[in-house]
Amino acid sequence: MQIPRLHPDTIEEVKNRADIVDVVSDYVVLKRRGKNFVGLCPFHSEKTPSFTVNPTKQTYYCFGCQAGGNAIKFIMELDKRHFAEVVLDLAKRYQVPVKTLEPEQRQELQRQISLRDQLYEVLASAAQFYQHALRQNLGQKAMEYLLENRQLSTETIQKFGLGYAPPGWETLYKYLVENKHYPVQLVEKAGLIKPRKEGKGYYDVFRDRLMIPIRDVQGRVIAFGGRTLTDEQPKYLNSPETELFSKGKTLFALDQAKDGISKLDQAVVVEGYFDVIALHAAGINNAVASLGTALSIEQVRLLLRYSDSKQLILNFDADQAGVNAAERAIGEIANLAYQGEVQLKILNLPNGKDADEYLQTHTVTDYQQLLANAPLWLNWQIEEIIKDRDLRQPTDFQIVTKEIVKLLQNIVNSDTLNYYISYCAEILSLGDSRLVPLRVENLRTQITPSSSVTFSQPHKVQSKKPKLTFFTTERSLLEQAEALLLRIFLHCPEQRQLIFEELEDRNLDFSLSHHRFLWQQSVEFSLEEIDLISKLENKLLALEEDLKLFTHVFHLNEKNKLEIIRTPQVVQATLACMEKVLREKRQRHFMELWENVDPKIEPEKERIYYENAMNEKRRIQELERQRQFSILELL
Ligand code: CTP
Ligand code: MN
Repeated sequence: MQIPRLHPDTIEEVKNRADIVDVVSDYVVLKRRGKNFVGLCPFHSEKTPSFTVNPTKQTYYCFGCQAGGNAIKFIMELDKRHFAEVVLDLAKRYQVPVKTLEPEQRQELQRQISLRDQLYEVLASAAQFYQHALRQNLGQKAMEYLLENRQLSTETIQKFGLGYAPPGWETLYKYLVENKHYPVQLVEKAGLIKPRKEGKGYYDVFRDRLMIPIRDVQGRVIAFGGRTLTDEQPKYLNSPETELFSKGKTLFALDQAKDGISKLDQAVVVEGYFDVIALHAAGINNAVASLGTALSIEQVRLLLRYSDSKQLILNFDADQAGVNAAERAIGEIANLAYQGEVQLKILNLPNGKDADEYLQTHTVTDYQQLLANAPLWLNWQIEEIIKDRDLRQPTDFQIVTKEIVKLLQNIVNSDTLNYYISYCAEILSLGDSRLVPLRVENLRTQITPSSSVTFSQPHKVQSKKPKLTFFTTERSLLEQAEALLLRIFLHCPEQRQLIFEELEDRNLDFSLSHHRFLWQQSVEFSLEEIDLISKLENKLLALEEDLKLFTHVFHLNEKNKLEIIRTPQVVQATLACMEKVLREKRQRHFMELWENVDPKIEPEKERIYYENAMNEKRRIQELERQRQFSILELL
C-alpha cells in the first residue's frame, strides 16, 4: 500500500490521545503493579511476565526480549503494519482529524483508511443480512436445524450471530451492491462474491448454508464459515483469505473466550465451530476452535497471551488415526511443548466423540471432570505407546522401549527429561522396584545426548560472566560507553547541556554509525524537550528506521537505571572512554610519523612527533584513570 505523508500535527495528536494501556490491552492481559502494568510479552514466549507498560511515559518495554516503544510502535510490530497505517487507525479510534502534507493526497488517504474499515462494514452488513434471513420463512429449515438438531437456545444463536445464506446465486450480491450500494470490488475483496467464470457478473460464495460469523479478537466480523444443511460438499465452506482474514492466524470465538481464558488461566481448543458453541452454551467459556487445520504457532501465541501458566488443552478427535491425528493437530507447536513453553494437555472424549456430541448425552460436570484429568501431552503419548502392548512379551517390550527412547529424546529441559526417564523406567519395570535403577540406566544410555542438551551449556557459562566481556573488548566497551551516554542524554534532560558542550569542546563524535545517526537526530530537537524520546521514536518510525537498533537506548532495564542514577561520574567515564579511542588513534598516527622520519635530516620534526605521541600517551593514561575510577565506582 502506498503510504501517505501525514502531517506532523496528526501524528502528534494521535500520540497524545492514544493511551498505551488501552492499546496494549487489546492484545495482552495487563495487571497493575505499582505505577506500571505488567503482562506476558506478546513478542516472545514467556511464563512469567516481563512485559511492562508505563502509563506515565506512555511506553512499553520487555525485560525479556528488549522489545519496546510507544503505542504506535506496539501495533506496528505486532500487526506488522506501516507507521502511517497504524497512525491512521489510531486516529480513527481516538477521533483525531487527519491532515496530510499534500492536500491532494487526502483523497487517496481517505481511500486507504477506509479499505479495511469498509471491509469491516460490508462484513457486518452481510452478517446482519444472514441473521435476518435466518428469521424469515426461507430460513425456517436452518432455524429448526439449530434449535432441534443442535439443541441451541435462541440466546446462543444470538450471541454467536448465527445466520442463514439463502439459496439464490445473487441474493447477497443484490442486497449489498444494488440495495446498499457497496462497490462491487469491495464486496469481492470481502470474500463474499466471486466473478462469474463465463459471462459478466458475480455470484454469492455462500448459498443455502448456515452462516457462522468469524470475528477478530475485538469482536469485528472478519469472515464466515458456512455449513451445508444438505449432503452438499464441502460440509463447511470458509471465506477465502482476505485483507482482514487469515485462517492460520485466527481462532474462532477468541473474542468470546479471552476473558474466560484469563480467568481460568487455561484455554480449551476444539476443532469445530459447533463444539465451541456447544461448550459456551454449557458455560465453558474458555473454548476456541482452530479452523479445521493444524494449530499454528501464531494461533498458539495468540491464545497464550491470555493464560499466565500457558495451559492449553487440546480436545481434538483422535478416533480413527489416533496418535497421528493428534500429532498433525499439534503441528508446529510440538517443539513449544517439548521445550516446556506451553503446558499442553490432550483430551480425547470417549468413543471418539467431539465436544458437541459428548454434551448431547452428558452433563457439563462430566466434561469438566475429563478436562481436569486430561493428561499432559507427553504422558498421553506414553499411554499411546503402551496401549495394546504386553510388556511381558520380549518383542512388545523391545518395541515400546524403542518408541519411548525416541519420544524422550525430544525433551529439552534436563529436569523434565530426568523425571520422564524415571517415570518410564517404572512402567517398564512392571511393578518390580528392584528393576527400576537398571531400566533408568538402560534408558539413559539409549537416549543419545541430543543437540538440546549441549545447547543449554554455553548459555549458562556465558550468563555467569557478563562483566568480563564488558571489559575485555575495547570495541564493546566503546559501544557500551556511547550507548550509555546517549541513554543519559535522552533520559536526563538536566545533563544534556553538559554532554552537548563536552562533545563540542573535546571534539568528540560517536564512532558507531547508528549512535552517530541517533545523536544527529536528537540534537535537532531542543535540549529542553521533555518528551524527547517519544518524539525521536516517532521521527525514526516515520523515517522507517529499524528501531531495534535503538531500543536499548530508549528503554532502561534495571542495570541501566542504576547506571544513570550516578550520572555525573558516568558522563565523565563515557566521555573519557570516547576520547581515549580518539587519542589512541592520534598516538598511533604520531608514532608512525616519528618512525618514518630521518632524525639526521629532520631532527626538529622527529622531536615534535615524539613529544606529541608522548602527550597523547599521557592523556590516554589520564583518561584511563578517569574511566576506570568511575566505572569501578559504578559496578
Ligand atoms: N472444517 C472446515 N472446512 C471443512 C471441514 C471442516 O473449515 N471442509 C472445520 C470447521 O471449523 C468445522 C471443523 O473443521 O467446524 C470440524 O469439522 P468436522 O470434523 O467435519 O466436524 P463435524 O463434527 O463432523 O461437523 P458437524 O458437527 O458440524 O457435523
Ligand atoms: Mn460435530
